[in-house]
Amino acid sequence: MTTNQLLKPVTLKRDKNLYIGGCDMTELAKKYGTPLYVIDEDTLRSVCRDYKKAFERYPHTRMMYASKALCTTAISKLLDSEGFGFDTVSIGEIYTVLKAGISLDKVLFNGNNKTEEELDFAIKNGIGRISVDNFAEVDLISKVGGRYNKVIDVLLRITPGIECHTHEYIQTGQLDSKFGFDLSQIDDVITKIITEHQNIRIRGLHAHIGSQIFEPQCFHDEIEVLIKEISRVDEKFNIKLDELNIGGGLGVKYTESDNPPSINEVADVIIDSLEKHTEIYGTEPPTLFLEPGRSIICTSGVTLYTIGSMKQVPNMTKYVTVDGGMADNPRPSMYQAEYVADVANDAEDREKEKVTIAGRFCESGDILIKDITLPKLETGDTLCVYNTGAYNYSMASNYNRVEKSAMVLVKDGKSDIIVYRETLDDLISHDVIPDRLK
Ligand code: LLP
Repeated sequence: MTTNQLLKPVTLKRDKNLYIGGCDMTELAKKYGTPLYVIDEDTLRSVCRDYKKAFERYPHTRMMYASKALCTTAISKLLDSEGFGFDTVSIGEIYTVLKAGISLDKVLFNGNNKTEEELDFAIKNGIGRISVDNFAEVDLISKVGGRYNKVIDVLLRITPGIECHTHEYIQTGQLDSKFGFDLSQIDDVITKIITEHQNIRIRGLHAHIGSQIFEPQCFHDEIEVLIKEISRVDEKFNIKLDELNIGGGLGVKYTESDNPPSINEVADVIIDSLEKHTEIYGTEPPTLFLEPGRSIICTSGVTLYTIGSMKQVPNMTKYVTVDGGMADNPRPSMYQAEYVADVANDAEDREKEKVTIAGRFCESGDILIKDITLPKLETGDTLCVYNTGAYNYSMASNYNRVEKSAMVLVKDGKSDIIVYRETLDDLISHDVIPDRLK
């Protein structure tokens, strides 16, 4: 069993109230207000260690955290202390990592439309790798690299013809994707780089085949396609690509019925595939880059809400409303994502009932959890929703002009604020009234 297979944080305890990281969740709700994102440091470190242990037998492994799942300076610092590098996709993520005091040589810059301003910032500050996504970007990287007299190490982002999500897995010769080069375009991009751009050094290949993946076999097949390509490129161009970035994607357990594979199972499939296919295609074992996001941060995160109003539709649904919703967690309304929750205060003696947890935002679709059985909720209760570490804060919005929530890190009974709650003045801080309206 590895941490991504748990439904709740490793430190979770119930002693009348709910405790995570040794902290009483009802106390945190009082102290910091709600909605409140809580990150359990022990759970986060435990996932990192699961990954490192699982890949111990392939020493050329480099762990890169996909910052898009949750990017703050404290989270970056914590992952850096676990020896992780970073996969970033914007100047904002790069800036966050840099401001956390982390050297950019451990950072990869990826994305399908990097601007010149972003590339300039990344290259000026010594970005370790850039994943080249398209032909136009080749010229731009070379131009910016020239500005700083630098040789830029790049990976080529390719679409390997494999797409794998929780419930579907397709393998085709070609994928209709906005990301990266089609396999049939690799020769052209390599030719372009080696003939026109001496300041770009191609180090390897990069692919990402999906998110919330439950089938390890996808990674086996992805690696086969990539190693085959590395061998073909060597034969045709006499270029040795010794880096392979296979992306992220490992799934986590959001509900009782989710059964993601363990990190060990996935590692075994990946390493076996690498060993098998490097042997078959006669290539050297490459440095393996992994860039998981969700499976690193999801389980360590919970969100605390305060229960507000209630509405019983006669003979139908009972709606119980919390003080957050789609602005702090857009996943249920965007992807029909499912979550589980517990009452954080002591409600053991109450009878149970089935309710729907509604958000406070002005959209009928703002439903956080449909049909959940919980102790009969009362106004003022604290609700703890699990598995909100990934793609919640990072996709949060100010819809309805509501301030973004605070985030705290908990460990050994201590809580530290790592993101302040926005204030009303933050909300209007970028607004301007033109003179003619004054
Ligand atoms: N690498 C690349 C190139 C990616 O595009 C992604 C995610 C990752 C790594 C990290 O994948 P992960 O390990 O987190 O699955 N907002 C969606 C997820 C979008 C994922 C986009 N790419 C959600 O909330 O489910």
